[in-house]
Amino acid sequence: MTRLRFDDLKQYSDVLRSRRGDPITVRFVEPRDAEELQNYFRSLSSRSRYNRFLGAMSELPKPVLDNFTHVSERDGFTVIATVQVDGFETIVGEARYIFNPADGSFEFGLSIEDRWQGSGIGSALLKNLECRAAAFGAERLFGDTLRSNQSMIALARKSGFAFTKNPDDWKLVRFTKEIAVAPEEIPCASWRIAAQNAALTPVVAG
Ligand SMILES: CC(C)(COP(=O)(O)OP(=O)(O)OC[C@H]1O[C@@H](n2cnc3c(N)ncnc32)[C@H](O)[C@@H]1OP(=O)(O)O)[C@@H](O)C(=O)NCCC(=O)NCCS
Repeated sequence: MTRLRFDDLKQYSDVLRSRRGDPITVRFVEPRDAEELQNYFRSLSSRSRYNRFLGAMSELPKPVLDNFTHVSERDGFTVIATVQVDGFETIVGEARYIFNPADGSFEFGLSIEDRWQGSGIGSALLKNLECRAAAFGAERLFGDTLRSNQSMIALARKSGFAFTKNPDDWKLVRFTKEIAVAPEEIPCASWRIAAQNAALTPVVAG
């Protein structure tokens, strides 16, 4: 498994494009982003928040916010998608993921701010997550969504995910994708760095 350099998380940032071609930066969240991230969740429509957290929630409870803003291999990672608005970095999306080395799975959830939905950011972020999963050495990625969440189901279908029942909750549908695409085709900094490190690691014979 690739180990991340926690003292230099900026190097894993990527620039994606919206459908219109606007640059969208995807970077790991930092503790200093806590207030902005909370504002982002508060600003989502109640429907989007409901879909994101699979239930009603007006904002993130403090311990959950702390969890979101402190990335770690044990508890998971949060990335934020940001754009420049009038010279200010503004959060327009986020994703949270965790890699489970025991079964090679990479679980994630994501959201895009309501005014930015339908701009191609969700699908660009999903491709980016696939590349980040490949950098960990993951074999498959998956998420769970409410059966009623047609937007997420359509996005997952379009992105090549297959659907199964959630083993624990009939209200949820699980979307899963094997990581078969060569990550070079969907480049991300995490993958490039992992590939460079692998090339530098001497192979020990025997
Ligand atoms: C689901 C979500 C992430 C999609 O992100 P997005 O940036 O709006 O999606 P995109 O613009 O990249 O759309 C990609 C594809 O998804 C599907 N899609 C997106 N929004 C849709 C909608 N409202 N209805 C139907 N299909 C939709 C379409 O197939 C679309 O492709 P198309 O525009 O070529 O038809 C976003 O709607 C969202 O954040 N929802 C609230 C939170 C949530 O539901 N999270 C999922 C929990 S895991």
